[in-house]
Amino acid sequence: NDTANAVPVATPTSNVALDLAEIDWDNIGFGFIPTDYMYIMKCSQGENFSNGELHRFGNIELSPSAGILNYGQGLFEGLKAYRKHDGNILLFRPKENAFRLRTGAERMCMPSPSVEQFLEAVKLTVLANERWIPPPGKGSLYIRPLLMGSGAVLGLAPAPEYTFLIYVSPVGNYFKEGLAPINLIVETEMHRATPGGTGGVKTIGNYAAVLKAQSAAKAKGFSDVLYLDSVHKRYLEEVSSCNVFVVKGNVISTPAIKGTILPGITRKSIIDVARSQGFQVEERFVTVDELLDADEVFCTGTAVVISPVGSITYLGKRVTYGSEGVGVVSQQLYSSLTSLQMGRAEDKMGWIVE
Ligand code: COI
Repeated sequence: NDTANAVPVATPTSNVALDLAEIDWDNIGFGFIPTDYMYIMKCSQGENFSNGELHRFGNIELSPSAGILNYGQGLFEGLKAYRKHDGNILLFRPKENAFRLRTGAERMCMPSPSVEQFLEAVKLTVLANERWIPPPGKGSLYIRPLLMGSGAVLGLAPAPEYTFLIYVSPVGNYFKEGLAPINLIVETEMHRATPGGTGGVKTIGNYAAVLKAQSAAKAKGFSDVLYLDSVHKRYLEEVSSCNVFVVKGNVISTPAIKGTILPGITRKSIIDVARSQGFQVEERFVTVDELLDADEVFCTGTAVVISPVGSITYLGKRVTYGSEGVGVVSQQLYSSLTSLQMGRAEDKMGWIVE
């Protein structure tokens, strides 16, 4: 049994590559910037996670036979910490990430940390890397929890050992367009998820599967790809890294969570915010025809926040939204959400953890 070799260990050689002073906070984008510490907690199959601790940030060591490397037994999460003007640090709905990780772990036959362990680990990691949180209004600290089958396994089976790891990186805007509208192409050949598959959980493989279509779209000058359902090929699913919403008058529609759509925490929050502002929000099947006929289209995600869509190309036909700028509904929801996340608006929903 060589599972001992599969234990990830922070190597003392791989240290912080970039100095804080070198960071241009106005132009950080969404690239990886190594920070000071990461959190690691392990457990064997059939046991509970325990004894997690902070390590200096660095490479980890895995057996070439680790379940994550051979059979993709892994999940990730994404959440953000914001620095407020008064110096406080804010997390946005971190419990939701803990719940989603637990749901995904069940689907992927993995043990998962308890909600309390998850929250404690996130807080520890953020505080240990506090100096990397961008100044107020300049971005956020992106928190990336990973759950993986780190034990060695050769026959197809759940790994004998699991690792929960959290690392962080300061980030700015996800799309190179910044907050300007993005241009999407509807993919008609490749699909992101199928009924009964894993599209509804944040498993690592879901993201590898979209790279081919995404690369092809980017090579043609599009920002990203919008996927259709794999059965009828006429209902919207999601964009490679975010959920999609379609606005028509006072009605905002988004694909319902039915197993192939990732249950985004920003998605869920925007639904609540929009309803509280008097919009009628519908979670249902949304057709390509409705997309092409919409007043506005926008995407939501932790990384993306809210990204307005400027144009959609479907079967060679390009439809544009608004007159170049950001639509009023997208702008209004963006302002409401980010004011909450950055602590500028009263947190009536109890979504913020300081
Ligand atoms: C996020 O929005 O946090 C995600 O996990 C999407 C990822 C592709 C950046």
